[in-house]
Amino acid sequence: MKARAEMTQGRWSEEVLGQRRLLESCKGSEDSGLEAHSFPSRLLPASMISRILTVTGLSRRGRENLLNLVVKTDEVFLPSLPEAFDGLRIMHVSDTHFDLVPELAIIAARLAKPIDFDICLFTGDFRDHLCGSGIEGVRLSAEFLAGLGKPVYACLGNHDLSSDLAMIEESGIRVLVNENVAIERGGNRIFICGIDDAGYYKTDEVGAAFRGVGADDCAILLSHDPCAYKKAAEAGAALMLSGHTHGGQICFPGGIALFTHTKCPRRMIAGAWKYKGMRGYTSSGVGGSRVPARFFSRGEIAIHILRKFVK
Ligand SMILES: [Fe+2]
Repeated sequence: MKARAEMTQGRWSEEVLGQRRLLESCKGSEDSGLEAHSFPSRLLPASMISRILTVTGLSRRGRENLLNLVVKTDEVFLPSLPEAFDGLRIMHVSDTHFDLVPELAIIAARLAKPIDFDICLFTGDFRDHLCGSGIEGVRLSAEFLAGLGKPVYACLGNHDLSSDLAMIEESGIRVLVNENVAIERGGNRIFICGIDDAGYYKTDEVGAAFRGVGADDCAILLSHDPCAYKKAAEAGAALMLSGHTHGGQICFPGGIALFTHTKCPRRMIAGAWKYKGMRGYTSSGVGGSRVPARFFSRGEIAIHILRKFVK
């Protein structure tokens, strides 16, 4: 299986990244705009939640929950899948935010090591903080993903910065910013498409991400925020992989999220879902956002096994 040879450096024009760069410079202060569009919320900021957890003695329990990752496996039936790809195992990783809790990088690597898979798809948020320690999150996330030893394709999340792209790609990860790559197997091919963040930056260009993808081709779309589900289905995606929600991160019993931070139905904020003919999966992410704790949600690495035929 090989990726179509393309330039990996300097291929993003000002047209592609200019809007994101502009928005990053306008919105991108540490605790302003992004805080309002990340977990937890403008109404209940991260600092307040952390204080509540400290006062109530729940910080330690929340941190232990955050470190307790799980591997989830599902089979995804895609009628447009070429036969050569039947059984393809995709490791889906999202929202590592490793600068928030660097210890998670070691735990995730240990968990991923024995897993058998063919390619890894990462759906954004290499970092938690936009400045300061954030770059350490990028470094740890890139090191973890590249260390998996398989091809890795990614999209950017709302916590990521366009200035991180060079560092990420230098580690061997291919970031898809409103573009796609074809991967080949046994003379067949499928497309991995990636859009820029559709929720906070709204710099997604689904048309550009599907350029060259035919109506009969099987395409998997990486979209950090699942809110792009309608556009993805219209573009003909067979499967959309997302993250961003952290599965609610701090939930009521039963996994009922206090905040979702995405404009899509609640059934799409964690796990597998379907919209019209398109399959979707929203990862609960590996790490936490802003608050180093989870309650009634678990961080995850998902393995999607692609199937052409129903067993
Ligand atoms: Fe995230």
